Amino acid sequence: MVYQADNHRYENGMQYERCGRSGVLLPRVSLGMWHNFGSVDPYERSRAIIRYAFDHGITHLDLANNYGPVYGSAEETLGRLMDDDLRPYRDELFISSKAGYDMWPGPYGNRGSRKYLMASLDQSLRRMHLDYVDLFYSHRYDPNTPLEETLQALVDIVRAGKALYVGISNWPLEPLRFGIDYLRCHDTPLLIYQGKLNMLYRNPIDEGILQLCHDEGVGFIAFSPLAQGLLTDRYLKGIPEDSRMAKQKFLRPEMLTDDLLANLKRWNEEAQDKGMTMAERALRWILEQQGVTSVLVGASSTAQLEQNLRCVK
Ligand SMILES: NC(=O)c1ccc[n+]([C@@H]2O[C@H](COP(=O)([O-])OP(=O)(O)OC[C@H]3O[C@@H](n4cnc5c(N)ncnc54)[C@H](OP(=O)(O)O)[C@@H]3O)[C@@H](O)[C@H]2O)c1
Repeated sequence: MVYQADNHRYENGMQYERCGRSGVLLPRVSLGMWHNFGSVDPYERSRAIIRYAFDHGITHLDLANNYGPVYGSAEETLGRLMDDDLRPYRDELFISSKAGYDMWPGPYGNRGSRKYLMASLDQSLRRMHLDYVDLFYSHRYDPNTPLEETLQALVDIVRAGKALYVGISNWPLEPLRFGIDYLRCHDTPLLIYQGKLNMLYRNPIDEGILQLCHDEGVGFIAFSPLAQGLLTDRYLKGIPEDSRMAKQKFLRPEMLTDDLLANLKRWNEEAQDKGMTMAERALRWILEQQGVTSVLVGASSTAQLEQNLRCVK
């Protein structure tokens, strides 16, 4: 059936926050396509989640070249969705992709060289059936490539019209400071930093990254805000068969220690006492931090997304 977006999608409770000192407003809840949108996942389920997201004001979708599995397949899913559902809404969407981790074999399919970033974005655009991305990130810091090379590649990508804005993800504080200055001096101000931040992992606060972004007018988007599902009720009664912990290498059972489980149960009760779910509480905690523009959630069902969206209600 032809998709018709909900006419009330901007009146369903979503809030939008200015991204640093830029003209861009991002939804306070954004959706990431790291898991659940690959070729191993049922297309109709991925499609239902994206439709639900857009119908509820989530205008920002986050991808990377190697999201899947298999690598590249989340971008292919987005390409199919553009053709099936989203093309009429392209200008209402803010789509990001990244390059920095391993993508293809050999010396040019990884890290921070100009060669890799340029080729990777071209591949991403082909997979997503897009002419440009709204935002392109350096996905990680590469200590062996001169920072100027990586940063100038980002500048030139914008000048070539393949991305409207650039972002940096996972860079340490001092290279980030250098990057902010470099990009500003080359008329391509850094729009946003993407970093892991949640109630269990507070490094961007402790290391001063969030403060630097705030001071420099750079937005901040928090990835894995639910610690990949730990900060929800998902694991309070064991490890469900269909969960990320049961299926994926990125969240392993040994991470769920007795101490952590005890803390999770306590936080869950505290959240319930306040009439919230733990997920809602965990997302609200991030959104309350000064300098945070958006939380970048994942979801394997529309029900999870519905629950996560309560943090902006
Ligand atoms: N820049 C980077 O290096 C980097 C790294 C990682 C992620 N990211 C970005 O951040 C996005 C989000 O990361 P993430 O997927 O780790 O985020 P997350 O929101 O912390 O975890 C999402 C997972 O938690 C579970 N979940 C979510 N909501 C739930 C709820 N209400 N109740 C129960 N379980 C729930 C689901 O797992 P189940 O599958 O078990 O249902 C879901 O797939 C990624 O898609 C990607 O765009 C970026």
